[in-house]
Amino acid sequence: MRRCLLFAAALAFASLPAAAQQLAATPPMGWNSWNWFAGKVTDADIRKAADLMVSSGMRDAGYVYVNIDDTWEGKRDANGNITTNEKFPDMKALADYVHSKGLKIGIYSSPGPRTCARYEGSYGHEEQDAKTYAAWGFDYLKYDLCSFGKIMRDTHPNDFAAQNQMMRDAYTKMHNALVKTGRPIVFSLCQYGFDQSWQWAPSVGGNLWRTTDDIRANYDSMILIGLSQAGMSKFSGPGHWNDPDMLEVGNGKMNHDENISHMTMWSMLAAPLIAGNNFTEMNDDVRSILTNKEVIAIDQDKLGHQGDRVWAGEETEIWARPLADGSVALAVFNLANNRSTMRGLSLHLHEAGFTGGAAHARDLWEHKDLGLIKDTDVFTIPRHGAVMLKLTK
Ligand code: GLA
Repeated sequence: MRRCLLFAAALAFASLPAAAQQLAATPPMGWNSWNWFAGKVTDADIRKAADLMVSSGMRDAGYVYVNIDDTWEGKRDANGNITTNEKFPDMKALADYVHSKGLKIGIYSSPGPRTCARYEGSYGHEEQDAKTYAAWGFDYLKYDLCSFGKIMRDTHPNDFAAQNQMMRDAYTKMHNALVKTGRPIVFSLCQYGFDQSWQWAPSVGGNLWRTTDDIRANYDSMILIGLSQAGMSKFSGPGHWNDPDMLEVGNGKMNHDENISHMTMWSMLAAPLIAGNNFTEMNDDVRSILTNKEVIAIDQDKLGHQGDRVWAGEETEIWARPLADGSVALAVFNLANNRSTMRGLSLHLHEAGFTGGAAHARDLWEHKDLGLIKDTDVFTIPRHGAVMLKLTK
């Protein structure tokens, strides 16, 4: 079975442009300003985020990109070049600063005339903007559909096929513009999964593409998105990843167990790990969840095979993911809203490929070898929590 999986992954890998494979051989990791700062983000916030990414150990745990989301944009100058607004006085200097920390930097735009926060988009200026981003030193572009949706609808009222083709063409246009700059720039599609983005996003040069609407900083939103990714594993792999949106670990009112479930699910999904919390207020619990190297190693596994649901009960789901070394990552989620803990859960090892119903296990959150475990063993999982194991025969 493992051979087949390796072969399938190699095939997917081979069909992508060489540059895409190298750019995002494993799911991109970093931080993005939107989930915490939204429209308030400034140059100083980005510098601070870069500083704290280093001092908190996030960089050493693998987080690389510091991404500026919407609201950096100013007007266009007389030659049509995009400028920044007063919150970002010097983008080149900012990019240099972030690079000086051993990090990379990302920027945001829209194929439409306006971004989602109604700032200047790239419509009609794609090549010019790509050139500007490259000249400033950017390494990553999140390209958010926003007002382009209206252009699609106005151009082809009621003709959804034509609208979708326009959307693909708009993403292709920016991809080509990025390639033309000669600078390697990760291309992140953000159009909320319209027209089943996962089916075509790699062909328009996407390294990652949103598969859902925006995440919110609460358990219901997070887990709904996570569970909705079942069956999506065949669409992602090295160089091209399903993106169930950025992390909300450390935001809102999610508690320890809910944050564990969030990080477990995203790592099982081979999802991009783009943190979105405020590092200046990050407590030790949130930091240790975001920087758990054993969990991150599952997300970043070289095989790049996204996990999938292997068993679902009324209030429990079990997901598994094959890994490059022949072992399997297994996650058990307690979805129960009412009960404080779930006891006596079977791990359904059989369904995860362990036909004898037994496996050697390591607990990746507890950092503990559990020895040989069996389906009949009793596992206790707190409400909204998860267990994440690495299993070997
Ligand atoms: C959309 C995106 C978000 C964020 C905002 C910015 O809602 O999905 O991730 O980029 O726009 O306006």
